[in-house]
Amino acid sequence: MKHYCVLGSVNMDMVTRVGSFPKPGQTVEGISFTTFPGGKGANQAVALSRLGADVLMAGRIGDDLFGTQYKRVFAESGVDSGALEVMSGIATGTASIEVSNMGENHIVVVAGANGLVDTVFVEKNRAVIESSDFLLLQLEVPLESVVLAARISRAAGRIVVLDPAPAKHLPNDLLALASVITPNETEAAMLTGEDTSADAGIRRAGEKLLDSGVSTVIIKAGVRGAYLVARGCFERVPGFTVKSVDTTAAGDSFNAGLAVALGEGRGMIESIRFANAVAAISTTRNGAQAAMPVRAEVDAFLACHPR
Ligand code: RIB
Repeated sequence: MKHYCVLGSVNMDMVTRVGSFPKPGQTVEGISFTTFPGGKGANQAVALSRLGADVLMAGRIGDDLFGTQYKRVFAESGVDSGALEVMSGIATGTASIEVSNMGENHIVVVAGANGLVDTVFVEKNRAVIESSDFLLLQLEVPLESVVLAARISRAAGRIVVLDPAPAKHLPNDLLALASVITPNETEAAMLTGEDTSADAGIRRAGEKLLDSGVSTVIIKAGVRGAYLVARGCFERVPGFTVKSVDTTAAGDSFNAGLAVALGEGRGMIESIRFANAVAAISTTRNGAQAAMPVRAEVDAFLACHPR
């Protein structure tokens, strides 16, 4: 069985459902308010565990109520929290999320303890990073820590799956350390300066990322599925049509599904199809981790959706 390490953010998501998003200066009535465990790193860890993977979460939380709740979340989800540190005098990361009736979202993240995931912390966890077959990274913790963790993992001959979200400019050395990078269309446009609204631009964006040293580029395109761009290969793997109510963490679910399928030795196209299914199911329910499917559900879903 493969071992997975996720290094990244742990947030408590405060989700307000609205009919439509307020414009600047406008006040609208909300429909409901709920708190859900979230954060791109923690979401990927919980999604991996639900899919049956052996996963360790490396990150930092605050010594507050959200941090306390979170320890229970990982225990109940079967995620190894041996590399989860409680920092005193700082709040656990939060995300204020508005979800519209169309299932779209706006997110404001406050890093809190995620901002303390520094290179000293990464060095402390060198051994677990080196011994994990897969390292999953995102960009809600300091960039220099992401680079160092990727360097340690690759030097140990491991696979690094980098989700460049939320969108920001990346140093070339990080791109060259990613075995697989999984931007969505917006992130791919920001990373490459290409217009990714049509296939030709997506291909150019993918090829630019390959030129930066990434081995495999997968561009997530929502309901359209995902594009695989590798040397001599450009292919769209279609997504699934579902009744979507909340797209929060669909990208995190995708990355977990992709890593699990790759860890089982499936080919890239097959792994992307599996990841598309995990992401699609996650959009049919509210919340980030609360929406993530277990393995049997994904297998049943794929059996009902033959190619
Ligand atoms: O990817 C979704 C996540 O982004 C949310 O859970 C929220 O915490 C933000 O970090």
